[in-house]
Amino acid sequence: MTVLVSGSTGFIGGTITRHLLTGGHSVRAMARSESRARRMYEATPAGREALAKGRLTFVEADVTALATLIPAVADVDAVVQAVQFTGAPVEDPARGLTYMQVDYGGTLNLLGAISEVYSASTAGQGMARFTDKAPRFLYMSGITAGADSPYMWDHAKWLAEEAIRASGLDWTIVRGSWAFGPGDRALNRILHYSDYLPVVPIFGDGEELLTPVFVEDIGRLWRLVIENPDPAKDMTFGLGGSETVTLNEFLRLALNTMRRRRPILHIPEPIGKVQGAIMQHMPGRPLSPDAVDFVAQEGVATEADRALLAERFPEFEGTLLREGLGYLKTRE
Ligand SMILES: NC(=O)c1ccc[n+]([C@@H]2O[C@H](COP(=O)([O-])OP(=O)(O)OC[C@H]3O[C@@H](n4cnc5c(N)ncnc54)[C@H](OP(=O)(O)O)[C@@H]3O)[C@@H](O)[C@H]2O)c1
Repeated sequence: MTVLVSGSTGFIGGTITRHLLTGGHSVRAMARSESRARRMYEATPAGREALAKGRLTFVEADVTALATLIPAVADVDAVVQAVQFTGAPVEDPARGLTYMQVDYGGTLNLLGAISEVYSASTAGQGMARFTDKAPRFLYMSGITAGADSPYMWDHAKWLAEEAIRASGLDWTIVRGSWAFGPGDRALNRILHYSDYLPVVPIFGDGEELLTPVFVEDIGRLWRLVIENPDPAKDMTFGLGGSETVTLNEFLRLALNTMRRRRPILHIPEPIGKVQGAIMQHMPGRPLSPDAVDFVAQEGVATEADRALLAERFPEFEGTLLREGLGYLKTRE
């Protein structure tokens, strides 16, 4: 089986790729720079082995440019969409770096490319839209995606999901909770403050509920989904870790794992938004008011989400928070 992974150089897409490669599958890794992606995979044992066996290939494409996606989607059995715009969650509309343009628009373009390559020539009312060679479409969404959310990121993900559900392809959507692990740029960035500050600053009161998920669980679940199409067909799963915690509790657990004692400094959100309003005009746009909302947002996988996953994939077991955070022991 050959799987196209968009976002293959990213935190989530990279993990999914690695799990597929160790499972013996072939991956066509999509990136905007093939040479950068190749270097990244040559540096890993799974990547080197798959390259040597011809199970890892690369394709240079950009989800905002439909024509580049046509060779990417040709002759694959499944497409995993795990792209996120550079700099997220700080949007940069002047450079086209927004949830609507990259998350939603990029998904539409991937679906459009699949239509170009696999449209059934006899298509008509009541007839198949795609040939039977068309790939399954697998989308990495977010746990808070929803039609009624006030936030653009949730709305863009919801629109992308709706386009996939209406596409006529076989599809699976996994709505992931906040993912953590070596290489993430959220938890590790917050904890990095403890390297040089006596406090760990966050926006808001830190009492928002989360179900943080270890990134390896995301990789394992996607591998199961890809290997077992039937229980996953046309399903939307919510994926969280096995524990529901507040952000404060999560950070204390992480700091304890690192054997560090640091109080959490709660910066009121309105102050954060003023900071964001100023910093969005600085080089590199380090913060924006919307990004403050994003990082202070609640996001939990529910009991119903857990029950659905357990029913469809009884063999899937999530990693305990304490175990997942184990990688931090080396940062003591
Ligand atoms: N991280 C989390 O906690 C989390 C939780 C739930 C859901 N998700 C979702 O999972 C997806 C991936 O997130 P992530 O954390 O893995 O993001 P990430 O680490 O920032 O990776 C983003 C990926 O997107 C690629 N990309 C960016 N712009 C692109 C474009 N125009 N065309 C093609 N590729 C492009 C990047 O590749 P190059 O720059 O190499 O081209 C990179 O591989 C997102 O949709 C995110 O919302 C993430």
